[in-house]
Amino acid sequence: MIQIRNLKKVYNRNQKNAYTALRNVNLQISKGEMAAIIGKSGAGKSTLIHIMACMDDYDEGEYFLKKKLVKGLPERKAARIRNECIGIVMQDFALVEEFTGLENVMMPLDFSRRKIKGKEEKALEALEKVDMEEMADCPVNELSGGQKQRIAIARAIVNNPDVILADEPTGALDTENSGRILELFLELNREGKTIVIVTHDISIAKRCKRIIEIRDGEIFTPEKSFSQK
Ligand SMILES: Nc1ncnc2c1ncn2[C@@H]1O[C@H](COP(=O)(O)OP(=O)(O)OP(=O)(O)O)[C@@H](O)[C@H]1O
Ligand SMILES: [Mg+2]
Repeated sequence: MIQIRNLKKVYNRNQKNAYTALRNVNLQISKGEMAAIIGKSGAGKSTLIHIMACMDDYDEGEYFLKKKLVKGLPERKAARIRNECIGIVMQDFALVEEFTGLENVMMPLDFSRRKIKGKEEKALEALEKVDMEEMADCPVNELSGGQKQRIAIARAIVNNPDVILADEPTGALDTENSGRILELFLELNREGKTIVIVTHDISIAKRCKRIIEIRDGEIFTPEKSFSQK
């Protein structure tokens, strides 16, 4: 589903403050996998998620999504790929604050090129899965951080995407809500969705079938460090 080869990402390339956020990244995530990405703050987790979500480009290497090369795409094309097969939960939620939760969750359906029937029902269904249906008509700027986070998760799943990429999706949630969201992701994974979750919560990481650690912009594999010793 996701294949990344020798990927390198440099922020502010050719400038004094150029910074290599990812290097030598090789990663394959198969259809139906559920993987956690862990690593310290600044390690490059969000950078990698943004590239996987076709929201950001990279400098070297290759990224194939469903066997198609994603590189230097015009924004319109990247937006279409995102809309058709990816659901993303951004670390900062990236909701439209003046819109209601329902309006935010309906956005991927409105952008879709396919004709979608019953958009509002679909959006309400997604909101129900994150226990936010009762607050559907509340403007997002009147919600708490955890409530916004759950709206962001509903928006990521509403379009029934093949791949769900979630950047710290439980970072703003209490244990109970966090557990519910994990159950939701596990259920979606059982239905066949490919899921990648960035998390600092080791109990969440452990429930994923695979843990990928990023250290200083590189995928850390214990074997590698062992052989280098
Ligand atoms: N737009 C940007 N311009 C310049 N540097 C950036 C940009 N975004 C991120 N960086 C740098 O790239 C590195 C990786 O950032 P990234 O956001 O991927 O880290 P992260 O692993 O998600 O951290 P956190 O756990 O705090 O969210 C950091 O050193 C950060 O300062
Ligand atoms: Mg991050």
